[in-house]
Amino acid sequence: MTDLNDLRDVTALKERIAAELAAVRDRSLAYTDADDETLLRQHSPLMSPLVWDLAHVGNYEELWVLREVGGVTPLRPEIDDIYDAFKTPRKDRPSLPMLAPDEARRYISGVRGRVLDVLDAVDLDDSDPLRAGGFVFGLVLQHEHQHDETMLATLQLSRQPGLVRDGALPPGRSPNLSAAPEVHIPGGVFTMGTGTVPWAYDNERPAYRVHLPDYWIDRYPVTNGAYAAFVEDGGYRDPQWWVPRGWEWVERAGVEAPLFWTKDGGEWWRIRFGREEQVPEDEPVQHVSWYEADAYARWAGKRLPTEAEWEKACGGRLYPWGDAQPGLEQANLGHHAARPAPVGAYPGGASPYGVEQLVGDVWEWTDSWFQPYPGYRSFPYKEYSEVFFGETYRVLRGGSWATHPSAVRTTFRNWDHPIRRQIFSGFRCARSES
Ligand SMILES: [Fe+2]
Repeated sequence: MTDLNDLRDVTALKERIAAELAAVRDRSLAYTDADDETLLRQHSPLMSPLVWDLAHVGNYEELWVLREVGGVTPLRPEIDDIYDAFKTPRKDRPSLPMLAPDEARRYISGVRGRVLDVLDAVDLDDSDPLRAGGFVFGLVLQHEHQHDETMLATLQLSRQPGLVRDGALPPGRSPNLSAAPEVHIPGGVFTMGTGTVPWAYDNERPAYRVHLPDYWIDRYPVTNGAYAAFVEDGGYRDPQWWVPRGWEWVERAGVEAPLFWTKDGGEWWRIRFGREEQVPEDEPVQHVSWYEADAYARWAGKRLPTEAEWEKACGGRLYPWGDAQPGLEQANLGHHAARPAPVGAYPGGASPYGVEQLVGDVWEWTDSWFQPYPGYRSFPYKEYSEVFFGETYRVLRGGSWATHPSAVRTTFRNWDHPIRRQIFSGFRCARSES
């Protein structure tokens, strides 16, 4: 496999891009291998119909690779507005004159054929930043993988069984027996963000130096078992654990447990892709909002890590284990199974500090708002990151089991509203040196 960081070999890079484009398309088609009714229905007001996501990734690819880089005449200019995420809020998408599923598949395949022609002809050493290092292909690849993860969230919300494949994962190690639950990270300066990873987004740039005092961070994400103890202790009925807006949300929405959890016969059960199963105690908790993560941390006598603390705990490399592409020994990424792995399942993915499962399993909420780094410059368009900066969205790090390895790294930043929990979100705690 070509190392994405070694861009000297342009032929190998083009082959890698072509292979990755084929793989991501297989993935998108697998998640939309359902009847038209399932694809056209809006399963939740938070999500688009699946067929919107499908045509949208093709339209995005057309805009950026064909029109912007290839100078190709628009194939279907009349559909641009329908698939512009900024012009059509999710709740309005079902009423749009969307392409029907077969038409959408034909459209994205027509785009893709021309994209491969552009890939053949394009100069990737060009001084144009969209072409250099194949950035624009990295952009559309990551974008499609991100929509694939969104489609998985939609499929989970649909509660329909049989649409998403499951698989095997390595076993966990009991964290109580094998290692201390917290890791001490010594104070000092470290480099946050990146100036060198070729396909990194604008919001990960530029690299800059950050000083942090000593702190402690959990070795593993918080498990279902640990989170259930918070629920059983009346965590959702006690405002002392919640920030005021979080408490308002709990009362207004009647929240009593993570999304998809129910209690039956004294046991916790969950719906996972349409099937009911007992909540496994040793898996990282998922489908919790930032407010829930923050309340749990306070109840536990801790706090959420800042994103700088989270990133420093990774040890300053592309991945916590080093620069090698993620494999089965390192991380639960890329939908091997449709769930997080138990804690302790990836000793081979530990960071130099010994912190585990930072990448993969669940997106981890941090205490930080989504803000630009010093020296930030919007690229290639301000609607990717810039319009989201401020005190509206909280940052999540590390990717989930549903995230593809090409769409995550230690510097990667995701963000969402603090009430959202249909995403594959969990967390770990931190605390200051005392
Ligand atoms: Fe998009």
